[in-house]
Amino acid sequence: MAINAILPKLKTENTIVFLPSLFSNEDKLILAPLQNLTNLFFRRTFSKYFPQCFDYALTPFISACSNSIKRSSPQFFDILPENNQGLIDCVPQIIGNNAEYILQTCKVIESLGYREVNINMGCPKKDIVSRGRGAGMLKNADLIKRITGSILNNTSLQVSLKVRLGVKENTDFEKLIPMLNSLPLKNICIHPRRAVDFYEGEVDLPKFEELVRKIRHTVIYNGDIFTLEDFSRLKQRFPFITHWMIGRGALRNPFLAGNIRGISYEKSVLLKPFIFDLEENFISNLKSNNEKLILGKMKEIMKYVCQGLETDNQKFLHSNSLEEINKFISEI
Ligand SMILES: Cc1cc2nc3c(=O)[nH]c(=O)nc-3n(C[C@H](O)[C@H](O)[C@H](O)COP(=O)(O)O)c2cc1C
Repeated sequence: MAINAILPKLKTENTIVFLPSLFSNEDKLILAPLQNLTNLFFRRTFSKYFPQCFDYALTPFISACSNSIKRSSPQFFDILPENNQGLIDCVPQIIGNNAEYILQTCKVIESLGYREVNINMGCPKKDIVSRGRGAGMLKNADLIKRITGSILNNTSLQVSLKVRLGVKENTDFEKLIPMLNSLPLKNICIHPRRAVDFYEGEVDLPKFEELVRKIRHTVIYNGDIFTLEDFSRLKQRFPFITHWMIGRGALRNPFLAGNIRGISYEKSVLLKPFIFDLEENFISNLKSNNEKLILGKMKEIMKYVCQGLETDNQKFLHSNSLEEINKFISEI
């Protein structure tokens, strides 16, 4: 069936209904970066089925950890303008701890036509944090100043940050606020957990609220928006927040961003074509037709989809072939 026949008719002004989730004219929805998941193949499929549902996407991080950074390096494939034409707008994200490498990476990003770069100050992985990258940067105010200063002084890029509350304590980021308030940042996205929490446990909403009141930049809320009700509850609690970032929620329920905007979908009709299209796009991004890799990716995706459907993902997890997993997908 042609995709246009099953998609809701999207005439932007007419399809947006504000009341159900308290989503307002000024609210923005941003797709979160999920390394190896919300990259080009996902954004391509998502843009086809759910155009205009996210205002933009942050890309999974590009590592700035060598001094031989060229436009042709594989890490830029995901953000090359020719690959992103007609897709959801994106803002490249970088991770690193070396101001010189970061600047070189930013110069490539600038040369590709981007106007903003986001610095990852939230990645909780131990090997990254221990090297002072990702959330590890929250411990190094001088490095943050040096890196942001070097980007702002030597490129035309605006700088935004994606942070956590801290590494082991929930106060590392808080200590940086006076310094960050003095910088001309585009925005700060806060995932209100510590690095040691990874993605588990409750998000620390009281701390988030306390911090937002101290920050003079636009703050983006990010964390555990999985349902329309989650969004409405957060919007009621933080009516002053207008920027919302959604990650795992968009994988669990690809209809979520549209639903928040008041768009309704024939979910039972759309979900399977969407998943099969994701698979096709993933395959077309691969250099070789590696069944094991494709199977692994589909298992990862189905883990999230099953969470959204509140069904067991065991049969997907134990699938031994692409044929088998595709059969299970067609039965959801
Ligand atoms: C598998 C995975 C990969 C991630 N990759 C990135 C990344 O590349 N850059 C980043 O800033 N955050 C990354 N994150 C964190 C998410 O962007 C987001 O902050 C987190 O999932 C919380 O938001 P959510 O509850 O809406 O998913 C990742 C999270 C997961 C689960």
